[in-house]
Amino acid sequence: MKKLFVLIALVGIAGFSLTSCGSKKEEKKEEADAYSDYETAEPKAATPEDQIAQGQALVDASDCKTCHHPTNKIVGPSHTDVAKKYEFTKANVTMLAGKIINGGSGNWGEIPMSPHADISQADAEKMAMYVLSLDGEKPKD
Ligand code: HEC
Repeated sequence: MKKLFVLIALVGIAGFSLTSCGSKKEEKKEEADAYSDYETAEPKAATPEDQIAQGQALVDASDCKTCHHPTNKIVGPSHTDVAKKYEFTKANVTMLAGKIINGGSGNWGEIPMSPHADISQADAEKMAMYVLSLDGEKPKD
């Protein structure tokens, strides 16, 4: 019986401190909003150039280079050949990001590309943008 009482008391305290903590956060957020309105109007969106640069860093950090060279065919096609094959459109960025995550075969030969299930859609799209930029093409809508 005593144990039950202690338990109820603990839950009560935890509940109380959670709600009071929550309201404090809200106040802080309002302050931050007011401040950012005062400082700048809009948060800066990443430009395509930023995304391409991030994509290059992601490709460099991943295992892509074991099979892809920027300009020479190794196991997979050179990334410049991939860029030449596809137009730099949003649809192709999404399509190639899907290939990077799920793997694929048949577009360049019989050797399949291994899937990369741990890469997020957003990161895979940046990688695809980097690959598609290699023939000097600029992104289209
Ligand atoms: C195990 C070797 C291997 C690795 C690792 C690899 N690829 Fe590939 N990749 C291939 C092969 C083989 C193909 C050709 C597949 C085909 O014929 O459709 C390919 C195709 C591609 C294509 C073109 C897809 C198409 O349908 O035309 C892109 C883009 C690509 N890879 C990007 C990447 C990126 C980015 C990474 C790193 C995250 C990567 N690859 C890692 C072997 C690999």
